[in-house]
Amino acid sequence: MKKIQVELGNRSYPIYIGSDLLKKSELFKFHIKSKQVVIISNVTIAPLYLDKILNNLLEYEVQTVILPDGEQFKTLEYVTQIFDKLLANKFSRNSTLIALGGGVIGDMGGFAAACYQRGISFLQIPTTLLAQVDSSVGGKTGVNHPLGKNMIGAFYQPECVIADADFLDSLDNRQLSAGLAEVIKYGLIRDIVFFEWLEINVDKLLNRDKHALAYAIERSCINKAEIVSEDETETGVRATLNLGHTFGHAIETGVGYGTYLHGEAVAIGTCQAADLSRRIGWLTDSDVNRIVALFKKCNLPTIPPTKLNSSQFLDLMAVDKKNVDGKIRLILLTKLGTATLPIEIENKLIVQTLESYGKNQSLSPS
Ligand code: NAD
Ligand code: GLY
Repeated sequence: MKKIQVELGNRSYPIYIGSDLLKKSELFKFHIKSKQVVIISNVTIAPLYLDKILNNLLEYEVQTVILPDGEQFKTLEYVTQIFDKLLANKFSRNSTLIALGGGVIGDMGGFAAACYQRGISFLQIPTTLLAQVDSSVGGKTGVNHPLGKNMIGAFYQPECVIADADFLDSLDNRQLSAGLAEVIKYGLIRDIVFFEWLEINVDKLLNRDKHALAYAIERSCINKAEIVSEDETETGVRATLNLGHTFGHAIETGVGYGTYLHGEAVAIGTCQAADLSRRIGWLTDSDVNRIVALFKKCNLPTIPPTKLNSSQFLDLMAVDKKNVDGKIRLILLTKLGTATLPIEIENKLIVQTLESYGKNQSLSPS
């Protein structure tokens, strides 16, 4: 088992990475300081893994909330179901919440933990690759709003993250690929050596080679932990984790939550961000081709949906947490392995990318 520490003073916490971690009862005992425990999961994950968690909690008073499965249920309405259960069962302020699932459950569970009685302890047990390498680490919690993704939320750090690579055995290939989009992101924004390792080892990852996957999870978590430790609430470098996300969130919101997987939308958005970086003169054609080729190799989409034209895109991109005074700000790449902080780009250039990148398959002029 590897242990990576997220350094946040008295709110520091470990990320445990390995196999067979659900058999380590001592991890649960060490991090759960209450008698009352609520587990949040969904209808897909609970039948597979809930019992394995419950086996570690025989001495606790445990409640479960099993939510429907999907990004479209990441709403305040469904978080309320968690509050209903906690209140109906008189859960106290020292209770512990366990989020067992992918990024949707982790974000919703974390948000419920942040809000219930103004904050209870919570553990992240991420079950998708995306959640293990990104969403479970760093304390961003929240839900979607019909007008914008992740627009309602809180920064709230867990007690620990237990990332067991065995969960990935039951994950389908499409979800595995979506997780790889966020893995590639670390290489692009700050770790060129890792990006080059990914180019060489992508087949091993797609074939679920355990050593390669464990290395990719560890390297991603090291990168994320360093960024979060430096900038917990995204006043600076943490924003670089949003590479491709402004375009990607616009796609997710614009075509309807749940159509594209988050990682798929991020893959397309990253290609658009790379195209824009090339137009500014920072990336070469060959850099952009390498990025697009790696996403394609991972079976990820790289072309934006035809359903959104450039003016719709711009409208959607105007609802983004990085924006200041209503102006769109983007994370771009100054070279492979180095990202900008959020910067304002002339609308004209953004429109060029929206109208030209992937032109054959997609966008009509506004
Ligand atoms: P997800 O949570 O929807 O999970 C993907 C699918 O896989 C679901 O159908 C789920 O039920 C299923 N699943 C999960 N684990 C499984 C397993 N082990 N075996 C079989 N099926 C399994 O999606 P995701 O990609 O994990 O997360 C996406 C969400 O994360 C988005 O809402 C995104 O906004 C959020 N996110 C948050 C952060 C953050 O910092 N908080 C970062 C990135 C993404
Ligand atoms: N996934 C973006 C962040 O954690 O900041």
